[in-house]
Amino acid sequence: MADVTVIGLGFVGLTTAAFFANRGANVHGIDNNIERNELLTQMKIPFFEPKLGEYVKKAFLTKRLTVGDDIQDGTKLSRYLFICVGTPMTLEGKVDLTSITKVSKDIGRALKTIDNYKIVCVKSTVPPKTTENLIAAKIEQESSKERYKDFGITFIPEFLSEGSAINDIAKPHKNVIGANDPKSLLSIDNLMRRIYRRQITTIKTNIISAELIKYANNAFLATKISYINTIANICNTLPGADVDVIARALGLDPRIGNQFLVAGPGYGGSCLPKDLSGFILSCRETGYEPILLKAVEEVNADQLDVIINIVKERLGTLSGKTISILGTAFKKNTDDIRESASIHLIRKLKNLANIRIHDPKALENTRKIFGDSIKYSHTIRDLVTDSHCLIIMTDWDEYRGITETKLLEYNKNRPLLIVDTRRLLKIKKSNRIDYVGLGKSE
Ligand code: UDX
Repeated sequence: MADVTVIGLGFVGLTTAAFFANRGANVHGIDNNIERNELLTQMKIPFFEPKLGEYVKKAFLTKRLTVGDDIQDGTKLSRYLFICVGTPMTLEGKVDLTSITKVSKDIGRALKTIDNYKIVCVKSTVPPKTTENLIAAKIEQESSKERYKDFGITFIPEFLSEGSAINDIAKPHKNVIGANDPKSLLSIDNLMRRIYRRQITTIKTNIISAELIKYANNAFLATKISYINTIANICNTLPGADVDVIARALGLDPRIGNQFLVAGPGYGGSCLPKDLSGFILSCRETGYEPILLKAVEEVNADQLDVIINIVKERLGTLSGKTISILGTAFKKNTDDIRESASIHLIRKLKNLANIRIHDPKALENTRKIFGDSIKYSHTIRDLVTDSHCLIIMTDWDEYRGITETKLLEYNKNRPLLIVDTRRLLKIKKSNRIDYVGLGKSE
């Protein structure tokens, strides 16, 4: 008998399952990807995420985690059913609810033959009203049971960041529990107390507010980034201006806060772009045009043109030139390239110039997109050798160690253009290196 069944063993589901198991819960994980499940039972994880592998290993060794692919079994096994399946963005920017609809129906079918009270906890990010109007509705339809009377339903948003998932889940800045009935609320609150064994700031609210909290949280982070990118672009036009100094000063004002003020190539990843787009569309469905959010999205998309214009201004024609890109992951400490600014940049540049790329973790994922149409380097030396321009896109710590001496040794083109969108390098502009730090104009 398990305590918790986690449906969907992607980044959020696997982190939740492994963490809960390490905190003493008996967890059954379900995924319809059999290969992924087999890999997990060999105690290997299917993507790069610091610390997660150790947690998964320990969870299996202590026999607190099992995996399978049958939602019927999983529904019977546990009181708590966590839904963590993906809700990706469609080509039109909508939220794809196919998987979550299927899972809801499967849970409903399983509940038909079960008399125990189960609590469904939705963790997948969904547009407002989805938990009640789609998930609970499908479960009721398939099970012929009634929400709140025969089963509970809650929305519990997650705020995990890739690259720091285990730290984030172990020390959450908040827990949010969205429930429309006292029984579900109390039950989830009890589970969280058991898992955390200490006081966590918990916001207890209704489902619609909890759904909105997730969108509002991510939209605010995206807003901060587009705001500081706007300031960086203003700095580009004013010699002497330095976006990092400005950000440091802004961050000292507690009303602003010092995080998410690092200017760069624009936000990417599997959440911020998708959630902003989903939020905008769901606002429109209710008849409200969210002009601020739309502007945040536009600033983000335009950031790529800011970078390309810097390169074009300095290199002139791009035809026949080699542009080397440092980093394709959407940020450091991950091999995830979903909605990465770097990937979008490569798409824009690859028909104009020869592209060569480097990334410590995401090379293979990048190859799956671009195949032989670009070149791949395993070392900085190989990346740099014949290059006319380097563009630093990902904030990998190891790029900070790249020195002027090394670059001049590896590359004979003078001046060598470097566009450092994250301002990682300690290099001054000279007649040998044309260094441009985004938002740091000289
Ligand atoms: C985000 C949210 O932070 C997390 O709470 C939510 O659960 C999922 O979405 P994640 O997608 O892992 O997490 O990435 P995050 O650390 O938020 O970074 C998103 C993007 O913004 C990255 O491309 C990053 O490089 C960029 N970024 C972040 C900046 O450009 N500047 C900053 O100051 C911070």
